[in-house]
Amino acid sequence: MNNRINNPSMDIGVFVKTETAELHRSVESDLSRFLFHRNLSCNTYLQILQAFYASYVAMENVLRDYPETNELIAGRSKLQWLQNDIEYLSSQLQTIPAIVNQNIEIVASSSAEAMGMLYVMEGATLGGAHIELRLNKHDWLSESAGLSFFKSYGDFRLAKWREFSEALKMFHQQNVLSELDIQKGAQKAFHCIQSCLRGALNE
Ligand code: HEM
Repeated sequence: MNNRINNPSMDIGVFVKTETAELHRSVESDLSRFLFHRNLSCNTYLQILQAFYASYVAMENVLRDYPETNELIAGRSKLQWLQNDIEYLSSQLQTIPAIVNQNIEIVASSSAEAMGMLYVMEGATLGGAHIELRLNKHDWLSESAGLSFFKSYGDFRLAKWREFSEALKMFHQQNVLSELDIQKGAQKAFHCIQSCLRGALNE
């Protein structure tokens, strides 16, 4: 670990990905169990999106506290997509599931932690293309509605990811020894999203 900390040329993207791989596996496994169930209902899908919404509102607020992430979040907020999907799915249901009160307490103690959080929110868009393909067979989704969050940037997904990865690299070069705080912020984000999902899905 110390070797990495003292190495200014370390690849921060590889570092944070490796150090959080276990958390990714865990949240992906939780989510896939519900999301890729062949009988996934509109109701459960709505609860999943509500959980994402609750965690993203809390985290996007945190990101606005630091100039670096406040600048980056412009053009990267996922809230409007989530709101659109939630509105559409609610219109498909006779009874809308009650929103579980998540009581989320999340803070970033530094801009490095905030960058780590944003790493998770941006990285999560990468699985979106795969998720979108698996979901669009459900008849309660329409071609144009209900999948905006997982579609996210659409054709610009990879370009947005490369742009963010570059910003993360620059940040790390300008903030020597920030990698552990970036990692900590990423861990906080994974835990926040996972705990909201578990709360909503009663796990
Ligand atoms: C069913 C759910 C999910 C699937 C199938 C999935 C799948 C993927 C895939 C295919 C990638 C690209 C890997 C690569 O190119 O190396 C990825 C990256 C990533 N995902 Fe997920 N994902 C899921 C859920 C999530 C969630 C809920 C989060 C956040 C809490 C998340 C966070 C990330 C991050 C941060 C990366 C970027 C890794 C890197 O640094 O390259 N994923 N995911």
